[in-house]
Amino acid sequence: MSYEQIIAPAPPAELIFGDWYPGLRSGDLRAGRMTQALLLGVPLVLGRKRDGRIFAMRDLCPHRGIPLSAGWFDGENVQCKYHGWKFEPCSGQCTEIPSLTKFEILDPGKIYAGAYPCEERDGYAWVYLPEPGSGRLAGSVPPVPELPKFSDRYRSAHLVADLPCNVDHGIIGLMDPAHGPFVHQAWWWRSRASIHEKEKHFEPIPQGFRMSSHAPSANSAPYKLLGVYGEPITTTIDFVLPNRRYETIRAGAKWFSSLTTITPVTASTCRIDVIAAWNVFYNVPLVTSIARFFGARFVRQDQETMIEQAQGLRFHPALMLIDDADKPAKWYFALKQARLNGTDEHPLTGPVTLHWRS
Ligand code: FES
Ligand SMILES: [Fe+2]
Repeated sequence: MSYEQIIAPAPPAELIFGDWYPGLRSGDLRAGRMTQALLLGVPLVLGRKRDGRIFAMRDLCPHRGIPLSAGWFDGENVQCKYHGWKFEPCSGQCTEIPSLTKFEILDPGKIYAGAYPCEERDGYAWVYLPEPGSGRLAGSVPPVPELPKFSDRYRSAHLVADLPCNVDHGIIGLMDPAHGPFVHQAWWWRSRASIHEKEKHFEPIPQGFRMSSHAPSANSAPYKLLGVYGEPITTTIDFVLPNRRYETIRAGAKWFSSLTTITPVTASTCRIDVIAAWNVFYNVPLVTSIARFFGARFVRQDQETMIEQAQGLRFHPALMLIDDADKPAKWYFALKQARLNGTDEHPLTGPVTLHWRS
């Protein structure tokens, strides 16, 4: 038995159902093809119908449980490989059971495979995962999350990386201000020697909190780049349940906007997706490639650190959250617990100022 096998797997986290999660890049969905994805431990099969609509079904046939992705999709119906039942994939409704004869009264139209609301937004196929056991979705679901944009013309980029830890560690790593000078040291970003005391103001927002609009920290080189426009720079960072971090940087009419999500793949693993758009340096050649290069490096630094952290977490150590640097993490846990309990308690009753060195 290997060392790997005798140590417990990464600890699981409780998951928030009843919300939208980015499934996969919607450009990867081609008409007539099926693609598998795993979200919150739910096996999914996604695809695009001939009319362009995308769908997300539970990747299990309601007859005897074989993955529907093992079967066929003609751009109109998904057909199970085992007994050939056909399903309309947007509604999940069964359209044909080949074994039925005229002597049987079973109405295939009363049978449904699991089908989830699925929408294309900002280059992603977003999937709404209802509470388990909530049956077919009645009523409306909330709107799909969207990256804020502030002009018609902009460039955009996407990044994705798998993280071997549960969604809670992914999220508190995302909002953790104190790791920057250690994990993200680089000449173009910031150095450990540049650590200084910071004061940031936060305010409650529905299902989350906002780091109020402020002039960005002087030791962050990318922010300084925006200074070339000679306009005052402001940045706002929002965290919103279940897993979204919105960052907006504006300098006059120039802007940079990102939406970073940490999505549970299983209860003990997750994935980080970054969607970014900007109109700064719009006409500079290669700007998208350059942004992607630096963005990928930044995400890789977090990913490598979390891979190492996962080694330690398998031993289930007791952990600490300290004031003030880990205060946003405490708010996240309180918000999440309130959501899971079905209450609307908010850990922030008004504006709060935090201090830390980073
Ligand atoms: S298992 Fe799918 S049709 Fe029988
Ligand atoms: Fe980071």
